[in-house]
Amino acid sequence: MCGIFAYLNYLVPAKRKEILDILVNGLKRMEYRGYDSAGVGFEGTNTKNGGFELKTIKQKGKVAMLQEEIAHSTDLDFEKEYDIHIGIAHTRWATHGEPSPTNSHPQRSDTTNEFLVVHNGIITNYKDLKSFLISKGFEFESETDTEVIVKMVKHIYDKNPSISFRELVELTIQQLEGAFSLVFMSSKYPGECVSTRRGSPLVIGVKSKAKLSTDHIPILYSKDHRGLMNPSLHHTDSTTEFHPIGNKEVEYFFASDASAIIEHTNQVIFLEDDDVAAVQNGCLTIHRIKRTLDESTTREVTTIKMEIQQIMKGSYSSFMQKEIFEQPESVVNTMRGRVNFDTNRVVLGGIKDFMVEIRRCRRLLFIACGTSYHSAVATRQLMEELTELPVVVELASDFLDRQTPVFRDDVCFFISQSGETADTLMALRYCKQRGALIVGITNTVGSSICRESHCGVHINAGPEIGVASTKAYTSQFISLVMFALVMCEDRISMQERRNEIIRGLKNLPDQIKEVLKTDEHVHTLARELYQQKSLLVMGRGYNYATCLEGALKIKELTYMHSEGILAGELKHGPLALVDKAMPVMMVVTRDKVYPKCMNALQQVKARHGNPIVLGNTDDKETQQQANKFIGVPSTIDCLQGILTIIPMQLLSMHIAQLRGCDVDCPRNLAKSVTVE
Ligand code: G6P
Repeated sequence: MCGIFAYLNYLVPAKRKEILDILVNGLKRMEYRGYDSAGVGFEGTNTKNGGFELKTIKQKGKVAMLQEEIAHSTDLDFEKEYDIHIGIAHTRWATHGEPSPTNSHPQRSDTTNEFLVVHNGIITNYKDLKSFLISKGFEFESETDTEVIVKMVKHIYDKNPSISFRELVELTIQQLEGAFSLVFMSSKYPGECVSTRRGSPLVIGVKSKAKLSTDHIPILYSKDHRGLMNPSLHHTDSTTEFHPIGNKEVEYFFASDASAIIEHTNQVIFLEDDDVAAVQNGCLTIHRIKRTLDESTTREVTTIKMEIQQIMKGSYSSFMQKEIFEQPESVVNTMRGRVNFDTNRVVLGGIKDFMVEIRRCRRLLFIACGTSYHSAVATRQLMEELTELPVVVELASDFLDRQTPVFRDDVCFFISQSGETADTLMALRYCKQRGALIVGITNTVGSSICRESHCGVHINAGPEIGVASTKAYTSQFISLVMFALVMCEDRISMQERRNEIIRGLKNLPDQIKEVLKTDEHVHTLARELYQQKSLLVMGRGYNYATCLEGALKIKELTYMHSEGILAGELKHGPLALVDKAMPVMMVVTRDKVYPKCMNALQQVKARHGNPIVLGNTDDKETQQQANKFIGVPSTIDCLQGILTIIPMQLLSMHIAQLRGCDVDCPRNLAKSVTVE
């Protein structure tokens, strides 16, 4: 997915080389989001008249290639020092127009680069705007939707050359439909920068030696484009009570992702939809055009605790490997301060005030995409058992396609690692509008899903950089189990089961360490499988989600065909695929459906299938039935899926590496899918 990074230094002198390095490094921090081209925009000198102009360098491919292109720019004086400078940068994941330097961002207003913009999201009315601008004589050079934004800025500026940069952007975004986060710079407004968002995240980092004068920035309300202000919502003259952030020796970082900012500062401001944040003379202000009655009138300066080491690869070959091996700790972080193993109490601070309402609900809906959806599938059976409520598990895209009925007495859970997935977010808004209680289960503090939920649970897995989700899955799984445990805490008949699950949770970190020891063995199996075209993964009951999630990992990382198959459906079609050549994995653990799984195993073997069985280490009987076996420790049935998914994560990673695939950034995929 696209990434935005911008850097403004005000009275903090920096050489052009340093500035460009900061911009390129910012992009590198967001590489994990997936992209296919990159670019930077910065201040330069007009070679003809010595005047001030904006320059761009853009390149198809990895950020490293952009970096090379910059290094080879012979016309740049890298030693030139700037007291005040603004630079913007972008990684693009193509939606309109193929990856190419022309389609990369920054996009420009005209051939003299008067205005530049970087954009995340999609402008849905770009065709209409483009026709309008063409009728006004504008010539377009790219196939992007973004180009209309910056040309619209120029069009409005040409008509109102005396308005401020911020007002110019406010007027422009009133013409836009769709989703965006934007950062603008202009040769008409040197040293100034304006950013805004609607439906796409944007965060601003502030770095200053001086203590910030405030930890809440008041919102300033602008006149709308008709020059009117809604009198009933009139804000007292905000300028008189305004304490600006900055104004001397300050640096600002704008990014679509806090991980790009954290190495510079941990003081950040998350913008809300339709905020327009402008820096002028080193001062940051946030304006809004409309004011709704229930919205906050300030934006908090948040201190984020994410550390740079957390987002670095360390000695691992890939972020994915690091994240798989982090699971013994990440699951502890998910449970920390929530599960008391001495008293068997479980407290989820983010939803405790809503528990009365949740317990009264008529049904529970779990809505998500991709791996997050699988975490809901994995825990559905336990959820039904411990809550005795109807539990509906939905893929967000399908849920939206159907106009599903949702009621005021429904509780809707939105599970999302990033907290920004467009389909999940839209499903959230759909349910919220219908009066349901909204619970967010996310890994990203401050994300859109967090902010738009009534309450929620942070899974606390730490930043996940690999595009294929691993540790977030096990932490989502545990978060949902903890919720089910909270729901039945007063049910005497369920205490034994509850206590057994809590004991299971306590043992998980050590058991995960045991599973990780199978890595070498899994690697050997990967060597046998990596040249195959397909891999079927079968299982049922609590392990069905492992099959779906395992197959998703295989296909997204290795580009092999893979399918998670419910073993109960074997005779209804999938058995036709089985012969001696078809690679099959079967997940068979010692739970209630074990006899049925063994039955499925026999059926596959009877068709000359030769499945690799993923089972319990202490289950000698099954092991004897299997030619190839991967063993994981036994735990209580409902937690077994946390242990069985890990060999699948390892297997997909090894197969991908053997096939020469980039495990952190699989082709055509993105970490955070912020478009429908
Ligand atoms: C993308 C990612 C997946 C992820 C899914 C949902 O497809 O590649 O790894 O599971 O989005 O993302 P979310 O952030 O909502 O969990």
